[in-house]
Amino acid sequence: LSILVIHGPNLNLLGLREPGIYGSTTLDSITRQLKETADALQVTLSSLQSNHEGVLVDTIHAALGQHQGIVINAGAYTHTSVALRDAIAGVAIPTVEVHLSNLYRRETFRHHSYIAPVAIGQISGFGADSYRLGLYALVHYLKQAQ
Ligand code: DQA
Repeated sequence: LSILVIHGPNLNLLGLREPGIYGSTTLDSITRQLKETADALQVTLSSLQSNHEGVLVDTIHAALGQHQGIVINAGAYTHTSVALRDAIAGVAIPTVEVHLSNLYRRETFRHHSYIAPVAIGQISGFGADSYRLGLYALVHYLKQAQ
């Protein structure tokens, strides 16, 4: 199984960015941790970060036939992007939505996700561990479906 991890806008700033909310772990270190989890689960991992909505849409399209599952933290696009939602629905690749922070403890504009209705499920609030938990949940789902 090959899994694609997609990080949306501003997640390149992890470590520096509002550490009280997002923690002090950098994106590189999250990627390293995820590779270890992927090795343990015996799946292949690719990851990409972009601040550009169209690049994220293109990345989701390019996953067709290449990856069997997607873990996505769409950042602020979670709350705004019909295009990302339609891309996920369009490729129909099983997708898990993750967030470092617990969206429902924050501002009300973060309570709505355009991604949630096209995702298998959502993991929100466990900091960097949200990614690991998301990857675990996705691989478990895909192995059951095999
Ligand atoms: C986030 C939550 C979003 O509301 C925010 O815009 C982000 C990060 C998270 O991981 O907690 O950029 O997706």
